[in-house]
Amino acid sequence: VSGSDPLPVAQIPDLRTAPLGHGLRAHWLLDPDIHFLNHGSYGATPRAVLDVQQALRERMERQPVRFMDAELPGLLRGAASEVAEFLGAQGDGLAFVDNATAGVNAVLRSIPFKTGERIVLSRHAYPAVRNAVLHRCRESGAVSVEADVPFPIRGEDEIVSAFAAVIAPGTRLVIADHVSSPLAIVHPVRRLAALCGERGALLLVDGAHAPGMLDLRIEATGADWYVGNCHKWLMAPKGSAFLWAAPHRRAELHPLAISNRWGQGFSAEFDWTGTRDPSAWLAVPAAVAFLRSLGLERYRGRIAALARDAARGLAHAWGVAVPAPEPMFAAMVTVPLPEALAGRGARVLHDALWDRWRIEVPVLDFDHRMWVRISGQIYNELADYEMLGSAVAELAHQSS
Ligand SMILES: Cc1ncc(COP(=O)(O)O)c(C=O)c1O
Repeated sequence: VSGSDPLPVAQIPDLRTAPLGHGLRAHWLLDPDIHFLNHGSYGATPRAVLDVQQALRERMERQPVRFMDAELPGLLRGAASEVAEFLGAQGDGLAFVDNATAGVNAVLRSIPFKTGERIVLSRHAYPAVRNAVLHRCRESGAVSVEADVPFPIRGEDEIVSAFAAVIAPGTRLVIADHVSSPLAIVHPVRRLAALCGERGALLLVDGAHAPGMLDLRIEATGADWYVGNCHKWLMAPKGSAFLWAAPHRRAELHPLAISNRWGQGFSAEFDWTGTRDPSAWLAVPAAVAFLRSLGLERYRGRIAALARDAARGLAHAWGVAVPAPEPMFAAMVTVPLPEALAGRGARVLHDALWDRWRIEVPVLDFDHRMWVRISGQIYNELADYEMLGSAVAELAHQSS
């Protein structure tokens, strides 16, 4: 075996003509007795991809030293190139990291902020990202400012104007979600990149949900850095994510752990941050192969259509309005819960749905209103969301 041996993808099933929906569940380890409407939080990895990951682990354990020292560098660069090509980028600009949180932190720590410089983010930013910004501000004297992106929202112009209102002179860095969490809105990242360019600010896109869900072309976004998770909509094993950097941003970018290859360049530093199990990263090309086996257009089209159709049905059943024009959502949609549930805590409602109906769905308390964020996935069918619709209606009836 050598570092140039191809990664194993032979076990990936051919699903081009397989009917989508519950019939596909056998390809996942997901409990068949649950309604899993939250692919968004941690993904769910197909058995075939986990099998490839396990094969990689076994290959590593047959001769660990040779694997780590001789094979891994080539395998990692090969995997990075494949994943980058799939996502519209060059492999030398992409490095694997454990998760989006690590990628965002690496960028924040690599910028020598000066006192008073601004870091702009959205008020919808993911809590880990907000905390990382606040921590970096405390260390450096930079100040964080949040763009007041409205929700409900009428169109992407409202996102651009909310950012434009706070990207003042002295803004060093802007962080924008590609698909926001928790509210699932797809952001116009190219327009935001143009805005940052005009104002002399750097742009980090937090694309935690975008790979696999959107037809992502990273280099075309115009971002300085792009962070994405492979363990959500790309179906890769947990602990697989990437950080991409534009060519002129690579030299000063360092991983969170400075290790043996410090000073040897962007990809060398990120590819070795100390001994770890690299099998999740090396299995990402198998996850790409899994999506290709379904048909990429078919996959993306189905997950978005299912989430939007389901959201329309739930909104109708609960007498509420979907909070944004449909094209602003992709495979996740946030829907307000009926007013009658306003006083109930998010945790209580989540647990009631799980305990009584075995429905796993995130319940959110945002802007003094309760919401659910549904995910559409190819192992789901409308019946899963109809179950959510009637369960919530029953809870609302009991509360009124
Ligand atoms: C927008 C956004 N950023 C960052 C993250 C963090 O991802 P991870 O837990 O993989 O670091 C998430 C997770 O859901 C997210 O939605």
